[in-house]
Amino acid sequence: MRAKALSFIYRMSRSFLIKKMKKKSVLENRVFDFEDVIVEGEARLERLLRSPLERLLNFPIPHHLNTLLYDLSFPSPLTFAAFQGDTNQLDMWLKMGIGGGCFKTILKDSREGNVRPRITQLDIAGEEHLINAYGLPGKGIAAFRDMVLDSDFWSYGRPLGISLGGESPDEYLAVFKALEPALSVNTSRKYYYEVNISCPNTDEGQDILNHPELLKTLLQNIRKETTKVIVVKLSPDQSDEELKIFADIIKCVEKTAINCGNTRFKKNETLSRGGGGLSGPCLFERTLEMLDLLSIYDIPLVATGGVSSVDDVRRCLSKGARLVGMATALVKDPFIIPLVNKAL
Ligand SMILES: Cc1cc2nc3c(=O)[nH]c(=O)nc-3n(C[C@H](O)[C@H](O)[C@H](O)COP(=O)(O)O)c2cc1C
Repeated sequence: MRAKALSFIYRMSRSFLIKKMKKKSVLENRVFDFEDVIVEGEARLERLLRSPLERLLNFPIPHHLNTLLYDLSFPSPLTFAAFQGDTNQLDMWLKMGIGGGCFKTILKDSREGNVRPRITQLDIAGEEHLINAYGLPGKGIAAFRDMVLDSDFWSYGRPLGISLGGESPDEYLAVFKALEPALSVNTSRKYYYEVNISCPNTDEGQDILNHPELLKTLLQNIRKETTKVIVVKLSPDQSDEELKIFADIIKCVEKTAINCGNTRFKKNETLSRGGGGLSGPCLFERTLEMLDLLSIYDIPLVATGGVSSVDDVRRCLSKGARLVGMATALVKDPFIIPLVNKAL
């Protein structure tokens, strides 16, 4: 009841905020930039988390939802996909009962990302989607270490993913090597690695997608230095044949899993790059196809891409997904977390 009511209030106030920001851009005679809505939304959330209302965000996770991925125990199979760097948002989802999830991709050095506007909304078949061309902005390894190592996130005891990115396999490895000693020093931390080889918003970083043998060497090099779970995030834009080649490589390395989906490239003239990664409900059919295709390999699967409802989560789990990842659905309404946990 509480989750349903809060979900309604959240969706209403989000839609008011979007309308307000659109009106403001008309009055100021400039192009509407959806990133303004995100920035304002984050500021409001920070205020909420500092208020007595913060208590309303705590939801229990039913015990029967506990899910194992090798030695990692997720209290719910619902996870947040790698896309968020705002610590308040991550904290809110953990409070609401998300089983764990992945920080947004970390690159070696600090990076501004692409020029704004770099995110927009798109209506497809009456449902909200996003196209983002962020281009992996971030503060780099050093800032990530500062943000994460002493953070309260670990006290939730839920597995957190470290998404590795780079412009070449050497850079992925450099990010891993810079973070692993700092993370592993505290043995109570529950974490895993996710190798993001599938970002469509950068000009660089496509080496591994184009040369699968590079992934094998990278995974072997990471495996030499850690026993942690390694997830590889594939792309819905890859052909079935390409996906099979990658699955054959991934299964040769111990304790690996596949994350079925990133965004799909879509043209969009309002964005500075002329297009970006499409996310949201219309990806879901491809996610199901990827689950079917990859379930014959003996590799645990994470279903990400368009998952937007309790029914979608159920369908992924019934197709054998171990975990389910959400991004766009959490942007639209984070109260989907307690609603899914309760319904499963
Ligand atoms: C704004 C935004 C930023 C994203 N950033 C990353 C990222 O840093 N690393 C990554 O692996 N995927 C990133 N993604 C992709 C999501 O993790 C997810 O795979 C994709 O959005 C499909 O899921 P969805 O349909 O539930 O959104 C991003 C997605 C969005 C919408």
